Amino acid sequence: MYKIAVLPGDGIGPEVVNEGLKCIKAAAEKTGFDYETVNYDFGGDRYIAEGSKGDPLPDSALSEFKDMDAIFLGAVGHPDVAPGVLEHGILLKLRFTLDLYINLRPIKLYPGVYTPIRDKGPEDIDFIVVRENTEGLYAGVGGTLKKGTPDEVAMQEMVNTRKGVERCVRYAYELTKNSTDRKKLTLCDKANVLTFAHDLWRRTFNEVGEEYPNVEKDYAFVDATTMWMVKNPEWFDVIVTCNMFGDIITDLGAMIQGGMGIAASGNINPESVSMFEPIHGSAPKYRDMNKANPLAAICAAGMMLDHLGEKEAAKLIDNAIATALASGKIKDLGAGRMGMGTAEVGDFVAGLI
Ligand code: NAD
Ligand code: IPM
Ligand code: MN
Repeated sequence: MYKIAVLPGDGIGPEVVNEGLKCIKAAAEKTGFDYETVNYDFGGDRYIAEGSKGDPLPDSALSEFKDMDAIFLGAVGHPDVAPGVLEHGILLKLRFTLDLYINLRPIKLYPGVYTPIRDKGPEDIDFIVVRENTEGLYAGVGGTLKKGTPDEVAMQEMVNTRKGVERCVRYAYELTKNSTDRKKLTLCDKANVLTFAHDLWRRTFNEVGEEYPNVEKDYAFVDATTMWMVKNPEWFDVIVTCNMFGDIITDLGAMIQGGMGIAASGNINPESVSMFEPIHGSAPKYRDMNKANPLAAICAAGMMLDHLGEKEAAKLIDNAIATALASGKIKDLGAGRMGMGTAEVGDFVAGLI
């Protein structure tokens, strides 16, 4: 019996999470695993209702999550809450406190899906980004001086620890080594400028790499990475990178795989509870309109089942998504352009499962 914490969150989060849950239910009925969900209403509405000064995610909930088998999250971010409050207070707090040190982001173009890259197809666009998820520019170290004056100073430091870099790089090597069709691991960095921080990444990548003689190693500066992702996406099998670069290149990755409506992620702690979510945000302008694409959330649900060991159920979900997309019935992956609503896309995929 799996226990799954569900955090629908803000904006389109609840709508897409509903469809993810619908597909988990269909897969469970088909393959016969048991699970229960516990719903948590953390997000902007609750924060505002509590006077906009409480803790958007109390520590008591965090300790409950530690006893769960997985967490399924929609998105956070609310137009009436200052930027950063919910992102830091909920999402980053979850990633940091639960030490979800890997952010796994597959970039996969399904057959039948439009990519803006001319002459590239599903055989070219199929790689995985391993994003470090607890350090780097996200560590929140820094401060301001003389704020609001002409002499204002703002500093936000990038934190890279040998331990944090090494466990991320090692995860990426293991992933590549254990894959049947991915042979190459590319380190995406900016070692030509970040001569302290990314020198640590390079040395760690090379040293750990000695333990993986059969993994082909490659290097790409982050600016060039964005170029290669558009020009020759087929060059990539697995990319390992720091927190901030991983954030940026995976929005680009989402676009080459069909858009924000399809890109999913897993925030992994290999030793403890992990969290799964679409990579998109709360897209508040589409809230409660039945226009958002739930496929990213459904893909994230599939990744969650795969992580839990329900390989058959995960495969069923993946196959159903592929069949739905190949059918041509979903006209476009953009919000309001699918030719059907959020719930109808969920019904369609669940029906195929
Ligand atoms: P966003 O991803 O919410 O939306 C950007 C655009 O992407 C939307 O306008 C829409 O055109 C498209 N889009 C997003 N999700 C879609 C879906 N399911 N189907 C179809 N199209 C979709 O990014 P934003 O506008 O930069 O951020 C909005 C809020 O979300 C902010 O508060 C931000 O901080 C937050 N955010 C949260 C997460 C998260 O919870 N993981 C991630 C990114 C942004
Ligand atoms: C993502 C998001 C988050 C990030 C924000 C909302 C904190 O953009 O999951 O990619 O920057 O990691
Ligand atoms: Mn992002």
